[in-house]
Amino acid sequence: MTKTPMTDFETIIYEKKDSKAYITLNRPRVLNAYSIKMRDELYQTLQAVRDDPEVRVVVLNGAGEKAFCAGADLSEFLTAPSPVIARQVRFERDVWGMFLSIRKPLIAAMHGYVLGSGIEMALCCDIRIASEDAQFGVPEMGLGIIPAAGGSQTLPRVINRSRATEMLLSGRWVKADEALRMKLVNRVVPRAELLTAVENIADRIKNHDPVVVSYAKQAITRGLDMPLPQGLELEARLGYGLLN
Ligand code: COA
Repeated sequence: MTKTPMTDFETIIYEKKDSKAYITLNRPRVLNAYSIKMRDELYQTLQAVRDDPEVRVVVLNGAGEKAFCAGADLSEFLTAPSPVIARQVRFERDVWGMFLSIRKPLIAAMHGYVLGSGIEMALCCDIRIASEDAQFGVPEMGLGIIPAAGGSQTLPRVINRSRATEMLLSGRWVKADEALRMKLVNRVVPRAELLTAVENIADRIKNHDPVVVSYAKQAITRGLDMPLPQGLELEARLGYGLLN
């Protein structure tokens, strides 16, 4: 089945195929840098996947050879009146809150540069698959700012605290093999196999009952923010909900 393009955005390609949604960050000439336009289009796209009952699983990837996403668009940063105002603009549409509110599984398929907002988008996904050429970094400190897309919270929750602190404070980039060792990514595959590897996982997920999948995702994501007794209660409530 071929993919159906859903809209004609400028910075995002949104397609659906066989119950899977594909969101492609599409500014390859500037390494898919995250601009205000991309923020607005991504927000609309995430709303679409959240609300579309046909979509059971979402794949997030980057166009072009070199990058998943090289972070915030630095040209906007430098032309805005100040980095503070540029950031305020980004807060107006809570893309990160929108990411985390989606109850369908999100899978990041990452190649090349995965920097700043790029790694932060991937951290909002549930499963992360990288190709061998992927490089990950949080360069914000070098720009005199701290992460604004949740990275200071999501990175230590996905990898461990000391490794996250080192990555954030030092700005050191890690390559795919180290990212795998630190459990930043689930799996590393050859570049040519990236999309197939992700689609295999997406296909397995989408064959399950979407309500059960969404309850299981909630049990994990909401439960992780709770002490174990409350997490167990949440699991029981969700499980009971499935039976009634
Ligand atoms: N914002 C805007 N434009 C960006 C960008 C960004 N974050 N990252 C790359 N680009 C642009 C470059 O300016 C260049 O445009 P040009 O061809 O018009 O000059 C194009 O993308 C290709 O990048 P280039 O730097 O030539 O590629 P490279 O392979 O030599 O280097 C990087 C790649 C990622 C090392 C380098 O582009 C870089 O350091 N980017 C900034 C990363 C960053 O700090 N992000 C912000 C995080 S908050």
